[in-house]
Amino acid sequence: MNDQPTKRDRARTLAQVERDADGCRRCDLYKHATQTVFGAGPVGAKLMLVGEQPGDQEDKAGEPFVGPAGTLLREALVEAGIPIAAVYLTNAVKHFKWKPAGKRRLHERPNREEILACRLWFDDEVRLVKPGAIIALGATAASVVLGSGPKVLRDRGKLFPSPLAPIVTLTVHPSSILRAPDAAARATARRLFVRDLAAIAKRQFPGR
Ligand code: URA
Repeated sequence: MNDQPTKRDRARTLAQVERDADGCRRCDLYKHATQTVFGAGPVGAKLMLVGEQPGDQEDKAGEPFVGPAGTLLREALVEAGIPIAAVYLTNAVKHFKWKPAGKRRLHERPNREEILACRLWFDDEVRLVKPGAIIALGATAASVVLGSGPKVLRDRGKLFPSPLAPIVTLTVHPSSILRAPDAAARATARRLFVRDLAAIAKRQFPGR
């Protein structure tokens, strides 16, 4: 895939890119999703958070991180001293991938082709939002933001040189905290997650 933006590409606004993404047919995920869930937040955001893909509730609402993982994430941002209004929230993949389980829609991990097909929307978001820092949440986002080298549990909280933003790092996905086996494990995982976010808050939002 040629990823060099043309002059016309460079002139597009985020709103125009979002409209284009609404009609995305670059892979088959649109067929079973309600809608494209594009990123949300201000241009010039000091921080961009990248998740994997919208979940069941995000798919219905058309907004990223509004379900249970989003609630945990938003609470953790407050605890870490990060103003949500200064954050651009997005996902590596913009359509919900799921399989039926009775009446429920069960999350399925996007595959390599689906992740690759969606990449251009993320690149446009980064180019137009120009975030001061990017945090990849979980392995799928890390693969898009940082490539295949970094591993979430080994490298969480480390800073990586990147052309995408002055500060680029990764941590766990909030849904992994929700999946922790018991309350004690959940509390520990949540504390470490807030710690990772707070380390970036210190750089990006000093004095808060
Ligand atoms: N999980 C994600 O990765 N993104 C969302 O928007 C919601 C849940």
